[in-house]
Amino acid sequence: MEKVKIYEGKAKILYDVGDDKIIAYYKDDITAFNGQKRCKIKGKGMINNFISSYLFKFLEDKGIKTHFIKRLNEREQLLKKVEIVPLEVIVRNVASGSFSKRLGIEDGTKLDFPVFEICYKNDALGDPLINDYHAVALKIVSFEELKEIYSISKKVNKILKDFFDEIGIELVDFKLEFGRFNGEILLADEISPDTCRFWDKNTGEKLDKDRFRKELGDVLEGYSKILKRLNGEDKDE
Ligand code: C5P
Repeated sequence: MEKVKIYEGKAKILYDVGDDKIIAYYKDDITAFNGQKRCKIKGKGMINNFISSYLFKFLEDKGIKTHFIKRLNEREQLLKKVEIVPLEVIVRNVASGSFSKRLGIEDGTKLDFPVFEICYKNDALGDPLINDYHAVALKIVSFEELKEIYSISKKVNKILKDFFDEIGIELVDFKLEFGRFNGEILLADEISPDTCRFWDKNTGEKLDKDRFRKELGDVLEGYSKILKRLNGEDKDE
């Protein structure tokens, strides 16, 4: 199988392998604040590959259409080659991060219903928060596609929130990305502690990238705890 490198991002490298498929290679690099803070955390790529593969397979089994085909090895996944929609969809169940900061709402305040935000995926502009009209005016998506994207995001939130709740983790917020494939919108990119806020329901411990952003403790240890919970270990720790 010939692998042609087509993209290198902050946390992944993508290779075209023909037949409308790509391979995503999960790196150990970790970045925050639009790339201003960065380093390598040995083994992070492997853990995120396992976590994201697990969650995409789980969502597929629940009827969500995604780009995921299979995990190939410790670092790589085989994926459908979608055309990425340059939007980041943020789903929030609990106020935290930029939401708390921008709106002056105390970190940890439970929201009465999931709050959806969209950002224009553009490094030079710092991924600005936009609204539906902006997204359509900028020709990022059609209103029809946006409707589908919100509908899928809502379903994903319900499935994942309930699932994490069962394994003792509060799904505070997360980011999703989507792609076009044969005229359909598919869930794409990754779902991992790099892209979600996960709080231990009992202790409140933060098990996600905030450990790196705010120096809250060993990053790999937090991510490993998520993986262990997915594998049915560690529940009472
Ligand atoms: O920083 P903020 O509070 O807006 O982030 C909301 C959620 O989206 C967090 O879980 C964060 O990890 C994720 N996110 C992301 N990639 C971005 C921005 C936010 O994965 N570029």
